[in-house]
Amino acid sequence: MESIKQAMKQELTFKSRARIIRTLGDQLISGEVAAIIELVKDAYDADANSCFIEINPQKGSITIRDNGHGMSLKDVQEKWAELGTDNKLRNNISKSGKRQFLGNKGIGRLAASKLGRNLKINSTIKEGNRFKSIQVDELNWDDFSERKNSYIEDIKFYVEEIEAGNQSGTTLIISYLSQKWAEEKLKGLVRELRKLMSPISQDDNDFNIYLDIDSFTVEQNGFDGSEIVNGRQTLVSKLNGKNESKKNKIEPFPFLDACDYTFEAEYSQNKLSGLLKINDSKTEHQITVALDDSVNLGEGLIQLNIFDRDVDSMKNTFIKAGIISGEDKNPFH
Ligand SMILES: Nc1ncnc2c1ncn2[C@@H]1O[C@H](COP(=O)(O)OP(=O)(O)O)[C@@H](O)[C@H]1O
Ligand SMILES: [Mg+2]
Repeated sequence: MESIKQAMKQELTFKSRARIIRTLGDQLISGEVAAIIELVKDAYDADANSCFIEINPQKGSITIRDNGHGMSLKDVQEKWAELGTDNKLRNNISKSGKRQFLGNKGIGRLAASKLGRNLKINSTIKEGNRFKSIQVDELNWDDFSERKNSYIEDIKFYVEEIEAGNQSGTTLIISYLSQKWAEEKLKGLVRELRKLMSPISQDDNDFNIYLDIDSFTVEQNGFDGSEIVNGRQTLVSKLNGKNESKKNKIEPFPFLDACDYTFEAEYSQNKLSGLLKINDSKTEHQITVALDDSVNLGEGLIQLNIFDRDVDSMKNTFIKAGIISGEDKNPFH
């Protein structure tokens, strides 16, 4: 009996239609803002210290450029073109050893298909002191659409070595955009990008995001793109060019400034003296503490930003910092 059963067993494997790429990419990703965030996270995971995003309605393209470690030809074959890659799951620290990976689902790259029909990738790695560049040209996500009904392995796209660049990193160019970027969506994007920035580490070598939406103009689009990122520029601020180096830079929410109390103090030997500010009531208390003579604290400065943690206070903090708007009824779902 046993051996007859054995003989009837048929081996099965999963096979996939090409459209799974679209299911995982544009259908599973909630929106275009989330798609961009996914790609920015890949820049962070690649140890980039800057990620530059340009949305250009005139060219009909989105460019996302980072200065991370880039991808070799082999990386594109074995990591980028292999779905469900688990390299970030097996080891959750970035190459430099400094960052904890933000991605690990192994499908984030497919987010690009949410944004537009065509994808071009340029990437440069540094090997010793030489650079090597590759290009993936014209990946057309429509080839993976339901209509074609093909198997995933039947759809080809190509990567080739190209003349080497002089800086490591990856550039994605997305064209034939799926949707128009309206003012509200761009504002949402800025808000989500700001959430990625740490309010504490202001270190410029860390991770900076730049968003260039300067080509959205009042004449063409009914609003000024640059104003969404940089705020309104006055004639004076334009003239003295003070903000030039910070232009288009995404700043963190002023979260710390929105705290309920601050305590700033100086200590030296066995004394600590400082000012406690209660921000809501705009009152201050001088506090001095003297410890036993035998204690020596050394010398230093302390700054504490203190937050109330009940729901109403936290909601207020988030409103003050601009993370949510006052009308948001259920911010902590
Ligand atoms: N900007 C980038 N720079 C370098 N490598 C990248 C970049 N984007 C994607 N990759 C490579 O492609 C792989 C797949 O990315 P992704 O689909 O976002 O999955 P995950 O981030 O979960 O690993 C990454 O693990 C990484 O090796
Ligand atoms: Mg990722």
